[in-house]
Amino acid sequence: MTLRGQLLRWLLLPLTLLFLVDAVGSYVVSRHLADRVYDGELLEIARELTLHVKPEGTTATFDLEKDAERTLLLDQYDEVHYAVRSRDGTRIAGDAEVPPAQPRAQPGPAFYDSELGGQPVRIVQLATTSGITVDVAETRVKRHGLVNAIMLGVIVPQLLLIVIAGVVLWAGVARGLAPLTHLSQAVASRSHVDLSAVRVPGVPGEVEPLIVAINDLMARLEEVLSHQSRFIADAAHQLRTPVAGLKAHVEVALREEDPAQAKQSIAHLYTAVERMSRLVAQLLSLARNEPTTVRKLELAPLDLSKLAFDVTMEWVPEAYRKNVDLGFEGVEPHVMIRGDAPRLTELINNLLDNAIRYSRDGGRVTVRVAAQPPRLAVSDDGPVIPVAERERIFERFHRLLGTQAGGSGLGLAIVQEIAKLHDATITLAEDADGVGNAFTVTFPG
Ligand SMILES: Nc1ncnc2c1ncn2[C@@H]1O[C@H](COP(=O)(O)OP(=O)(O)OP(=O)(O)O)[C@@H](O)[C@H]1O
Ligand SMILES: [Mg+2]
Repeated sequence: MTLRGQLLRWLLLPLTLLFLVDAVGSYVVSRHLADRVYDGELLEIARELTLHVKPEGTTATFDLEKDAERTLLLDQYDEVHYAVRSRDGTRIAGDAEVPPAQPRAQPGPAFYDSELGGQPVRIVQLATTSGITVDVAETRVKRHGLVNAIMLGVIVPQLLLIVIAGVVLWAGVARGLAPLTHLSQAVASRSHVDLSAVRVPGVPGEVEPLIVAINDLMARLEEVLSHQSRFIADAAHQLRTPVAGLKAHVEVALREEDPAQAKQSIAHLYTAVERMSRLVAQLLSLARNEPTTVRKLELAPLDLSKLAFDVTMEWVPEAYRKNVDLGFEGVEPHVMIRGDAPRLTELINNLLDNAIRYSRDGGRVTVRVAAQPPRLAVSDDGPVIPVAERERIFERFHRLLGTQAGGSGLGLAIVQEIAKLHDATITLAEDADGVGNAFTVTFPG
């Protein structure tokens, strides 16, 4: 149902009900009023008639000339009838059809409604001191006329008022809703790349939050879109160099006549392909963990110490190959956090990959898990990352000058994204003994 329809219904329904109640009330009041106006005249006729009653013992005579009677009962609109009756109810004069006197407690005039010859009449009854009663009945034509006039004067303006209220409301709602129509036109006619704020002048206060919400959504979409287009540009740029390298290696291998040389070229090619597949994997992971595009992360309770221990154990063969002493220190047996196990595994893998890869020969790498607040630290014993670089190494594609080939510069960016998805913070500090680096991820407690 439209807003307009609802408003109209809520206004017109109660108004119509009020109108009906008022109409009934007005009718009752105007009928009463008409009786008050004309009852006096009727009583005058009854009084006049009593003047012609002459009591004689228990009965009486009534003496009124025909002409005088006609003049007395003459009325422009109504028929007037009367009856004079003795104490025992015998009619002395007048019209037999006038309803007989009704028993009353008090003397004096009494008015009541009745019927005469099928027509509604108003009757006044006057009792004289000698017990003679005079009833005068009058049809209700002029009384109805007055009631109708009053009703017309009251009802017509009220009906008009209701109609005018409806029309004004109809027009008012149309005016009030015009900014909404402008808003929907503004949004509909917009190009899909235009994410600037929507502006519609003159919107009512109630609609303002809707516009604020739309603009807020636009701003967030803008952020996500620019993130994504930046990512695609970065990825394309980063892939171009290794692809060119691959091509060169393939060309060299194809041109090689000597099978031994060709084999060596293919070995180079293999290394280049491996590096490239690492880059692609890291790019995908970066895209997958981008906080602005991750829809909903299902965080479940998990044991951080167990997870860190299991991941560390998988790196033992690699550490052994690199002659690195890899250790695990779990101060407490179970450190529970809410997290996404595959993503946290990836986070630890990236930190351990760095620590082992960039460690000196014979170096030492330690994974520590502690509670209150739950945290995980991966530390090595050098070389120390310069203080000036401690923030920048978390940026995409940023690598320290002179770092050996083999990495893509995305590992720490991925670590940071995953930390953000867990509301965790990551800090880099010198190792406790000041000779290495300690990457610490602190989870909300
Ligand atoms: N434990 C560490 N010791 C010394 N230098 C480090 C350490 N961890 C990271 N770095 C420096 O920070 C740079 C960025 O690390 P990051 O993990 O982001 O990228 P990467 O290791 O070069 O590539 P990727 O991890 O994507 O394969 C590295 O290139 C390296 O120069
Ligand atoms: Mg790395």
